[in-house]
Amino acid sequence: MRKQIAAANWKMNLSQNEAESLMDQLLASDFNLSLNQSAIFAVPAIYIPLAIQKLSGKQNVFVAAQNCHQKTNGAYTGEISAPMFASIGVQHIILGHSERRTYFNESDALLAEKTEAVLAVGSTPIFCCGEPLEIREAGTQNGFVDAQLKNALFQLSAEQIVKVVIAYEPIWAIGTGKTATSEQAQDIHAYIRSVFAAKYGQDIADQISILYGGSVKASNANEIFSQPDVDGGLVGGASLIATEFAAIIKALK
Ligand code: PGA
Repeated sequence: MRKQIAAANWKMNLSQNEAESLMDQLLASDFNLSLNQSAIFAVPAIYIPLAIQKLSGKQNVFVAAQNCHQKTNGAYTGEISAPMFASIGVQHIILGHSERRTYFNESDALLAEKTEAVLAVGSTPIFCCGEPLEIREAGTQNGFVDAQLKNALFQLSAEQIVKVVIAYEPIWAIGTGKTATSEQAQDIHAYIRSVFAAKYGQDIADQISILYGGSVKASNANEIFSQPDVDGGLVGGASLIATEFAAIIKALK
């Protein structure tokens, strides 16, 4: 069975004390993960060592980065590379979140480089894709997402692509309280899987975890995660509330 994943994206939120208290509350909620399930915490980079120290005792819990630079090292003031994250034990890195595509002009070509940089150190990219509202309203979301995947990921080999986690996040559902219906999520997740099947074969496509993101919360996680092609979620706002995120973890298949 594919890995089922609840990934928290804290974005640029919380002081260190608040981060510590959120992790303490989560640990107190005593969630448990089975072998095919993971909980991944993408915390602000500065809190990664603290999060590793607090959470690494838990089975199938990982601490992730929210972004990395495409180069390994050099004169890139303020940036952090994939090998640096790997050297402190980070095994997952979110790439191409719509906020980074929009506010930091990240292109598919740049994301192709970042994806290879993450894979080169043996880590897992959590690659985000998803359409803006006007594309959804025009009904052309499949073609839009297809281009994002092809442009950034199709240079990868079959061995590499199975290591990538996809997060489908419709931009109109991020932080808006507007969630895609479980039917909309299933439709496009099945489509995304078919895109990988056409390029790499069904066997490979069936191994790729595809997460849904966009206003996932405790009250809708069960229904969304129960869809056959939805393998968990990438969660922003609700991941900052311990009881919410603990319930989301429990909703994993
Ligand atoms: P949201 O964010 O859960 O607050 O909508 C999701 C994300 O941006 O990853």
